[in-house]
Amino acid sequence: MSRTVYVNGAYLPEEEATVSIFDRGFLMADAVYEVTSVLDGKLIDFAGHAARLARSLGELEMAAPVTDADLLTIHRELVARNEVVDGMVYLQITRGNPGDRDFAYPAASVPGTVVLFTQAKPGLADNPQAKVGMKVVTVEDQRWGRRDIKTVQLLFPSMAKMMAKAAHVDDAWLVTEGMVNEGTSNNAYIVKGGRIITRHLGHEILHGITRAAVLRFAREAQMEVEERAFSVEEAKGADEAFITSASAFVMPVVEVDGVALGSGKPGPVAARLREIYLEEVRKTAI
Ligand code: PDD
Repeated sequence: MSRTVYVNGAYLPEEEATVSIFDRGFLMADAVYEVTSVLDGKLIDFAGHAARLARSLGELEMAAPVTDADLLTIHRELVARNEVVDGMVYLQITRGNPGDRDFAYPAASVPGTVVLFTQAKPGLADNPQAKVGMKVVTVEDQRWGRRDIKTVQLLFPSMAKMMAKAAHVDDAWLVTEGMVNEGTSNNAYIVKGGRIITRHLGHEILHGITRAAVLRFAREAQMEVEERAFSVEEAKGADEAFITSASAFVMPVVEVDGVALGSGKPGPVAARLREIYLEEVRKTAI
């Protein structure tokens, strides 16, 4: 059965969905996106994703072509029409199709392109990887300087993912001058002496919606949180590590550049945070 997707006001079978070759998302990567997870048919932290989308659009002086209320309706409609129980909704907004290629932004009268589709991931919250953990390698971060804007310029993260694959590990941590920024598509954390350490917010990393929730839950559970940059060397000497993202939630990291962390098994802080996160976000899912 083909998926129903959404393009500019229409719900269509995926085979019939098209976007112009002149669309700035295609020609210039002039587009922003969000990925919202779905558990038990409900959206996780939709308000957080809608708020970050508005911020990304604002930073790029792009008008929002749809209201938050319409976005919520479209998300829910796609989840229902595709009978998604566990999975994700991908949303992308581009600066639209000005009818030709030009570096300058088109007039504000050119409407943005809005595309949404679902990805079913049965058993998303029971990912067996949470039991064994992930292995990562570190690579020099060669992305642009505004990683806080969630744009579709994902070529370097894709290259880094391929470097991880070539090294027979699960992901790459992106590093600047020996300090870890984040993973290819997730935020990175280490735990040392019970303290949770993750890079402070800025232009260098994406301001993860899962990160914000996990740090809030950690503080509420009286865990100590330090928002500061940490080095690759510090990571290798950590008791444990983990990553967060809308699709992985909290996922333990057990190895950095071939060095096993702690016992080499997922640590208790990551396991506890995963449990708390899943429990809490299910309560506010809509
Ligand atoms: N990626 N950092 C980067 C570079 C990311 O691409 C992502 C999300 C995150 C985590 O953000 P959040 O917790 O809001 O998902 C951090 C999504 C899942 C993706 O590209 O598929």
